[in-house]
Amino acid sequence: MCGIVGYIGYEQAAPFLLSGLEKLEYRGYDSAGICLNDGKELIVKKTKGKLLELKKLTNNGADINGTVGIGHTRWATHGEPSDVNAHPHLSDSCRFAVVHNGIIENYLQLKDYLISKGMTFRSKTDTEVIAQLIEFYYDGDLVDTVIKVLGKLDGSYALGVISRDCPDEIIAVRKESPLIIGLGENENYIASDVPAILAKTRNIYRLENNEIAILRRDGVKIINTDREDVVKKIETINWDIDAAEKGGYEHFMFKEIMEQPKAIHDTVAPRIKNGRVVLDEINLTPEQFKGFNKINILACGSAYHVGVVAKYVFEKYLRIPVEADLASEFRYRDPIVNEKTLTIVISQSGETADTKEAMKEAKRRGSHVISIVNVVGSAIACESDDVIYTWAGPEIAVATTKAYSTQLAVVYLMAIYFGDILGTVKKDQYDELVSELLSLPEKIKTVLANEEKVQYLASKLFNCMDVFFIGRNIDYALSLEGSLKLKEISYIHSEAYAAGELKHGTISLIEDGTLVIALATHEPLIAKTISNMEEVRTRGANVLCLACEDHKEIESVAQNTIFIPKCCDMMLPSLAVVPLQLFAYYVASLKGCDIDKPRNLAKSVTVE
Ligand code: F6R
Repeated sequence: MCGIVGYIGYEQAAPFLLSGLEKLEYRGYDSAGICLNDGKELIVKKTKGKLLELKKLTNNGADINGTVGIGHTRWATHGEPSDVNAHPHLSDSCRFAVVHNGIIENYLQLKDYLISKGMTFRSKTDTEVIAQLIEFYYDGDLVDTVIKVLGKLDGSYALGVISRDCPDEIIAVRKESPLIIGLGENENYIASDVPAILAKTRNIYRLENNEIAILRRDGVKIINTDREDVVKKIETINWDIDAAEKGGYEHFMFKEIMEQPKAIHDTVAPRIKNGRVVLDEINLTPEQFKGFNKINILACGSAYHVGVVAKYVFEKYLRIPVEADLASEFRYRDPIVNEKTLTIVISQSGETADTKEAMKEAKRRGSHVISIVNVVGSAIACESDDVIYTWAGPEIAVATTKAYSTQLAVVYLMAIYFGDILGTVKKDQYDELVSELLSLPEKIKTVLANEEKVQYLASKLFNCMDVFFIGRNIDYALSLEGSLKLKEISYIHSEAYAAGELKHGTISLIEDGTLVIALATHEPLIAKTISNMEEVRTRGANVLCLACEDHKEIESVAQNTIFIPKCCDMMLPSLAVVPLQLFAYYVASLKGCDIDKPRNLAKSVTVE
């Protein structure tokens, strides 16, 4: 996820581009840049770091002239955050400049082709390929050329394109990644999101997939890829600026919960080619992988909870012993880890101090480390042997939601990929798992559509003082996350227990009205979990049960139920976590808590 802006008018473009980018910094902030046509050539200023660095570099925009320009704030995907990888990207002869939000899946093939034709590349980004393709195919008509180039691209994109020779035009395109056109008086704008343009106009067009906008000073024309005119309705925005940054939602956490189908799609889809899981980023050979006799997973907090799910998933599909370890404990317990151990490190930020140090300890002991990381170019990503990125985009709310979900998706990809190498996942099962994985985003949309039911239950239950989350097997792994989500943002005391363990002491805490959230999605153990629900209900508990929709009989055991769609057992946490996130969110909201910034917490824990 990155932020794009563009301006064409009679004023200087740079001040607007910088203020627009400031409103989009929530979409990415590892580097930023602008490019203006000064009437003679394209001038680019870009730099690693927050927007502040770009403002310094351009003297708040005063040092760069031009009334047409594009800008970008980056959330690195291909290529680490650096000056050279920052957008805008220029073509070989500096004739065309491009800003891009999204991922070009076939950029390596395109790049190889262009290199074979003599073009040279400056950056490691997928975006530079687009600028180069425009130059390569340019036939004197920029719109025609852009349409031709779109036909070569696989993946998702929102683009802003300017040319040295067309100082009166910006071309903007959208496929899968959002892009809006702002309509002003003798000036027009492009932006990834509404906040960037709200200070200038409230009239916009929202581009749909495969629509192309041609912006001039006096008007905007929208066409499709067949160059036919598209008639669009002007939308008038009436949100205030603060709400606009959150896409109209009240909190980033809610926005990020809603973004999960897309985040999972972006993480999974580019890695499945012709029905096969392709993990190019792993350099281990199949023979090396077969040499491991143990997997060790290191992480903290919610990322550790993903590790606990992974233990169940990997042991089932790979038949290798797996340990999921709290990174802060691993470091100091003289662990039995060596070159026969594969270490998997999980971290959204890639900067968590305990996780980073635990990773170094595992490496010191000879273990090969694969990291699952969201922030490109972060310390853990750079220092691990291999890194698989989760394409969740920036997560702003302190409580993780979409990063957790994309980490789970990577665990499933790894289980299928390594299971195939080991021969523990057979062909039929392989195909079924791939198809289940691809269907997760749609199923999550169904769960999200049931959001009002969860809101209603939260309104009935938000006054509770103590909550116990119980579950067995993979439901136990999930209950750890459900419990953490609730307590960290609503400040309600809550604990997660393996359902069978409750009676070994903790059941003494159950009394009239204690809320027990029972997770009963794991088919083989539903009957056992139902018995545990009966045990607590007999002692006065108020039971809220989460189950799959084909187990309606559960309604007679619990006072309240939430149903989710059926999917393969091991992937159920991806569906089941969503109502738990929503429940925590609504409870915290009803209690008036500061949801995006819970007390005492920080997004990145860089101290021990
Ligand atoms: C909880 C949460 C934390 C993080 C933990 C690890 O909602 O976000 O528990 O999961 O601090 O952070 P990363 O994944 O950045 O290493």
